[in-house]
Amino acid sequence: MKRVAILLSGGGSNMARLVQSMTGDHPARPCLVLSNDPNAGGLVRARNWGIATAAVDHRPFAGDRAAFEAALSGPLRAARPDVICLAGFMRILTGDFIAEWEGRMLNIHPSLLPSYRGLRTHARALEAGERDVGCTVHEVIPDLDAGPILGQARVPVLEGDDPATLAARVLTMEHQLYPAVLYRYVLGDRTPVIMDWTADNRAS
Ligand code: GAR
Repeated sequence: MKRVAILLSGGGSNMARLVQSMTGDHPARPCLVLSNDPNAGGLVRARNWGIATAAVDHRPFAGDRAAFEAALSGPLRAARPDVICLAGFMRILTGDFIAEWEGRMLNIHPSLLPSYRGLRTHARALEAGERDVGCTVHEVIPDLDAGPILGQARVPVLEGDDPATLAARVLTMEHQLYPAVLYRYVLGDRTPVIMDWTADNRAS
């Protein structure tokens, strides 16, 4: 059974979907939910499911990313994860930290990478007049929001969308895409998972 650690900063809806997927004959189980915010809603949800949690508040480490990452490494190494899923983890990680886990660390990003790396993805896509947006799961490398793409889901921009409505529509696809990619990944299959919002919603 593979061990999966999940890192988050917020409500943890992606974490929840990943955890819910790891049951029955799924080849992985969650071993830790770790946050940089001791008050992250995702920690409460994980605790309620009986999953081990830990928090390393980044704020006391302001200006010293290496020290923050050293502290983060404590509970992470202790959990002995085979795979680490960044799921709304909003701290930039240094190359040194990533190097230790490279090839075992995934991230979900709310855009069709390589477009719209970084923050405010939906607002920027709307400003640019995009007709399609989406989300991407990729392997983490030292470059921000880059690395081999393991899955993408395309989502249409609909009339009257604002960043919030678009984010909500993309999130519904994140919830399908990330568990699908993780399942393949723990089986050693890195063939990208391709999903389409329209097709998926017609099918269901
Ligand atoms: C998700 O939309 C995820 O793609 C995004 O944060 C949200 C977390 O939601 N991640 C990033 O923007 C990473 N740069 P959640 O806490 O409900 O899973």
